[in-house]
Amino acid sequence: MPLEKMQQVLTDKLEEMKEDGTLKGDELVITGIKDPEGGNAPRYYVKGEEGGFLKMNSNSYLGLHLNSEVVEAEEKASEIFGSGPGAVRFIHGTYEPHVELEEKLADFHGKESCMIYSSAYATMTGIIQPLTSKETLILSDELNHNCIINGIRMAKPKGKGIFDHLDNDDLDAKLSEAVGEYDRVIVITDGVFSMRGDYPDLQELVSTVKKYDSEFQDGVFTIMDDSHGVGAYGETGRGTSEITGEDDIDLIVATMGKALGVNGGYVVTKSRIIDYLRETSPFYIYSNPITAPEASAAIKSLEIIESDEGRDMLSHLREMTNYFEKGLKDIGHKVIEGPHPVVPLMVGDTKKTRDLVEYLKDNKVLATAIVYPVVPRGDESIRFQICADHTTDDLDYVLETIDSFE
Ligand SMILES: Cc1ncc(COP(=O)(O)O)c(C=O)c1O
Repeated sequence: MPLEKMQQVLTDKLEEMKEDGTLKGDELVITGIKDPEGGNAPRYYVKGEEGGFLKMNSNSYLGLHLNSEVVEAEEKASEIFGSGPGAVRFIHGTYEPHVELEEKLADFHGKESCMIYSSAYATMTGIIQPLTSKETLILSDELNHNCIINGIRMAKPKGKGIFDHLDNDDLDAKLSEAVGEYDRVIVITDGVFSMRGDYPDLQELVSTVKKYDSEFQDGVFTIMDDSHGVGAYGETGRGTSEITGEDDIDLIVATMGKALGVNGGYVVTKSRIIDYLRETSPFYIYSNPITAPEASAAIKSLEIIESDEGRDMLSHLREMTNYFEKGLKDIGHKVIEGPHPVVPLMVGDTKKTRDLVEYLKDNKVLATAIVYPVVPRGDESIRFQICADHTTDDLDYVLETIDSFE
């Protein structure tokens, strides 16, 4: 039984993770959802727990995962196309909703073309490698998402560099040092950084990159992962490009599993680059796409975001975000302020952060503790995420609960 030895090795590893504080432990299981009632957001039923919970840690920023039109679009498409694609895209796994969704996403971002993947993680890891040559340098913000970090590892570029978080001067210095050493440079950043709700000054980043483009044989280009930005902020939900007034990011990657309320990921950019990626990107070629019903649901989500109803949702989301940030400050707490619906309450102590999250759970509120070693000691926080289906009653309840914590 060779696995007995492996099981022991892995048990020791799990013990180590427990001691380090990095073990995630048992997952909470949602068994049902109660529709919004009496001016309150939906409540989530959890296995082994009485009553419903208010979710203050959902990525579905507009609540579209429960929107009746989105659910209906998914159901209708499943009657026509069935539940799964049955094959990868090039082996007759491409359905009409996939193509329509790609066109709609390209239009939404004002880019020439789009390609969808099973997730944003697969998109990012799937595009970095085919775009990396043997003479490429990749420069990455120090707090970039794990999909970027692993995508860079898999791409094995000639050089890798990390620039300080949101620091365009440091990026400039790293580009300057690279002149003459590489043929191509890829600069990658998150749009919204999901732990903090902050984002880069894209106008500065783009002008820094443009300054160096002519210094490298294949140029310098930018990739941004705006998974937490698209559909979550900006007057029309176009995310970090809209908030910063800078459209000239070369490739935008995002998920459809957050504000769009569905599932899957995508990249938008120039048509010729998409043509090349369709032929070379392993996560696209050898892995199933999202289902046709999921694609239909995502099309409906985009239509809603583009409508007056969507504008109203985004405006309510902004209002609730400001309300909650102000409420936390009024009761004496420190927050990282900003327009994005991620509102980090800075606690600055691991035990106190965990205790407050537990206290919130005892009071039927779900929130997420961000503690050491995920963040440096002193930066421990609770990440609250505001949703368009939250009301002032919901947020007052959360604020009162936080204020009653001893
Ligand atoms: C910045 C960022 N990129 C990518 C992902 C992954 O998205 P998906 O679930 O579609 O793979 C996430 C989700 O946590 C994220 O925060």
